[in-house]
Amino acid sequence: MSFIEFKNIEKQYPGADKKSVTDFNLEINEGEFIAFVGPSGCGKSTTLRMIAGFEDITGGELYIDGKKVNDVLPRDRGIAMVFQNYALYPHMTVEKNISYGLKNMKVPADEIKRKTDWAINILGLEEYRNRKPKNLSGGQRQRVALGRAIVKNQKVFLMDEPLSNLDAKLRVSMRNEISKLHRELGSTTIYVTHDQVEAMTMADRIVIMRNGVIQQVGKPMELYEHPANKFVAGFIGSPQMNFYDIILKGNIITFADGNTMKLPDSVIFKLPAQQGEMILGIRGEDIKLDQQNLDVFSENKHSAVIENAEVMGNENNLYFTFGGSQTIARVSKYEISGIGDKIDFVFNPAKLHFFDKNTEVRYV
Ligand SMILES: Nc1ncnc2c1ncn2[C@@H]1O[C@H](COP(=O)(O)OP(=O)(O)OP(=O)(O)O)[C@@H](O)[C@H]1O
Ligand SMILES: [Mg+2]
Repeated sequence: MSFIEFKNIEKQYPGADKKSVTDFNLEINEGEFIAFVGPSGCGKSTTLRMIAGFEDITGGELYIDGKKVNDVLPRDRGIAMVFQNYALYPHMTVEKNISYGLKNMKVPADEIKRKTDWAINILGLEEYRNRKPKNLSGGQRQRVALGRAIVKNQKVFLMDEPLSNLDAKLRVSMRNEISKLHRELGSTTIYVTHDQVEAMTMADRIVIMRNGVIQQVGKPMELYEHPANKFVAGFIGSPQMNFYDIILKGNIITFADGNTMKLPDSVIFKLPAQQGEMILGIRGEDIKLDQQNLDVFSENKHSAVIENAEVMGNENNLYFTFGGSQTIARVSKYEISGIGDKIDFVFNPAKLHFFDKNTEVRYV
């Protein structure tokens, strides 16, 4: 049996006219790092709070380590949680902040000392041990909040957007520290974020939610390469996947602006006998401008005029209109184009995604 199991979990807040979480089914293995992602209001925090026991479960069953916990008190669920707005005790030192929870749990003094020292060491907080929170940086405070949770040595670690109030650089370094910590502690972790980059870089598996419903569960690259639907395809990856309304007839795609593209048999072969109106998707890095690709796919070469160029340093994002849609090509830093430049490009046909126009479910 899996370590945490959700069976048809539902949540409807008192007085709400619809469910915030609907028919949530998921199995999490011991030691896994799972990320919940999705746009604001999709039910990530609600789900996390139901695991922790801070919200009642309206329907379904929740198991932790083989035991049904729907009616188990939060403190008896074996869970440590880090909130987005962790409040440290301002009048206590780093050491006291970390050890305080253990004192409350009536842990013997020598064990408190040992665990606190261990956390301070593992989080690199030794030189700040006697400082108060107001004299720490955001990242250091965040580490104290993590320390408070890890000393409790629980089976399950829940984190709700723990990095959202840090600046970009600190987020990257804390992301690394949390991953490292997870490797060292091995505790089953559920990490809530609306940042798909955090989810992609940290998680063993990602659960992507929309309006309280799971859209897809999978390894980061599975979601990236094989999104279940247009929503997942658009949510994972930056810049967002390009989408086009197309008509497929035989081997020929016709775009909304009348442009056409001939698909190789290898692509048609994968499409389950679908024809007619559908949605085509392609990621920016699969739009090619280099001579080699232009030669290989020369029969589908198209041209456009650059409307905007984002120079990222390591790569460039080129914006242009094609097929009736805003298109963003992601090209290497050596392929430099400026606004107003005319470019030739091809779509790598092996990297095309096709979605049902109505259900938005992905065919291929
Ligand atoms: N206490 C509450 N009472 C009624 N509705 C609530 C309550 N808390 C949350 N909701 C609603 O439940 C839905 C899910 O909220 P939740 O906080 O779980 O979203 P989230 O995915 O964590 O979003 P965010 O990324 O903004 O934190 C939202 O529509 C929200 O308005
Ligand atoms: Mg939330």
